[in-house]
Amino acid sequence: MATMKSLIGLINKIQRACTVLGDHGGEGMSLWEALPTVAVVGGQSSGKSSVLESVVGRDFLPRGSGIVTRRPLVLQLHKTEEGTTEYAEFLHDPRKRFTDFAAVRKEIEDETDRITVVNLTLIDLPGLTKVAVEGQPDSIVQDIENMVRSYVEKPNCIILAISPANQDIATSDAIKLAREVDPTGERTFGVATKLDIMDKGTDCLDVLEGRSYRLQHPWVGIVNRSQADINKRVDMIAARRKEREYFETSPEYGHLASRMGSEYLAKLLSQHLETVIRQKIPSIVALINKNIDEINAELDRIGRPIAVDSGAQLYTILELCRAFDRVFKEHLD
Ligand code: GDP
Ligand code: NA
Ligand code: MG
Repeated sequence: MATMKSLIGLINKIQRACTVLGDHGGEGMSLWEALPTVAVVGGQSSGKSSVLESVVGRDFLPRGSGIVTRRPLVLQLHKTEEGTTEYAEFLHDPRKRFTDFAAVRKEIEDETDRITVVNLTLIDLPGLTKVAVEGQPDSIVQDIENMVRSYVEKPNCIILAISPANQDIATSDAIKLAREVDPTGERTFGVATKLDIMDKGTDCLDVLEGRSYRLQHPWVGIVNRSQADINKRVDMIAARRKEREYFETSPEYGHLASRMGSEYLAKLLSQHLETVIRQKIPSIVALINKNIDEINAELDRIGRPIAVDSGAQLYTILELCRAFDRVFKEHLD
């Protein structure tokens, strides 16, 4: 099974191939835009940023009760060709590469105050609200909902619908919006956070076992870091261990332990992404081959051998297309 990391590598190759095809005047860009994105949707402080981080397995987003994501943050994760080194890059400044994830967080905090056009991959959306707070226009509630909807209504957007289990999931804004834009539930994952701080004597089994709100994908229960954990700087590895222990020793959820938690959610999401991405590969290979044919025809027309200036770029694109063709064909079986 593909890991999130290897999928990220594949997605980036597809994006680069699409850029190359786009450079050659092809339809590369539209394919790129059709690639899956993952967005977290939910009320304020429902745990959206925490879930997105634990799915990726890295600390990089601003989190906490006082911290609000004011506009969509779009993050692309990369793996270098040689292998292990990971770095993060934001679409608003692709020249800057971050390996220090504290600097990444700083950059997000700075970027929240700037305005740019955004594109794709992992999207941390602002929280849905029910009422405007002091100093905000009344239209803010509807404005946020419209903006969030504009992301999640796209058919290529995979929705992590975050609902805190310590509130009534029947009134979950995330589920309401997800139902509206994805009625069949094929691209929605229901995520119940904060299982650890539910009222004593209550549990979330009706939801987690699919009796209350049936979705196509199974619901996943999550225990993220609490504010106290964040203050104590509990790291991702320790947080996951704690979460695993929580489920394994839980009287309510013990029987579901293997299907609960951030790691399981990451696995479900990887599987789904892999399926969706694989479905795109045949049309990408077809497009690449169409480009190879066109470039060859163009080179024949120019006449070979050709002057360096006029032909060099075409040769480069041709070589890149051939290389991508080989790479993607490996992913076809
Ligand atoms: P966002 O506003 O939806 O992005 O939510 P954050 O991820 O920033 O989390 C908001 C607050 O809730 C933070 O203080 C988190 O520590 C806390 N929190 C999130 N998920 C959980 C959880 O599963 N359990 C507990 N105890 N606290 C959580
Ligand atoms: Na928050
Ligand atoms: Mg947030």
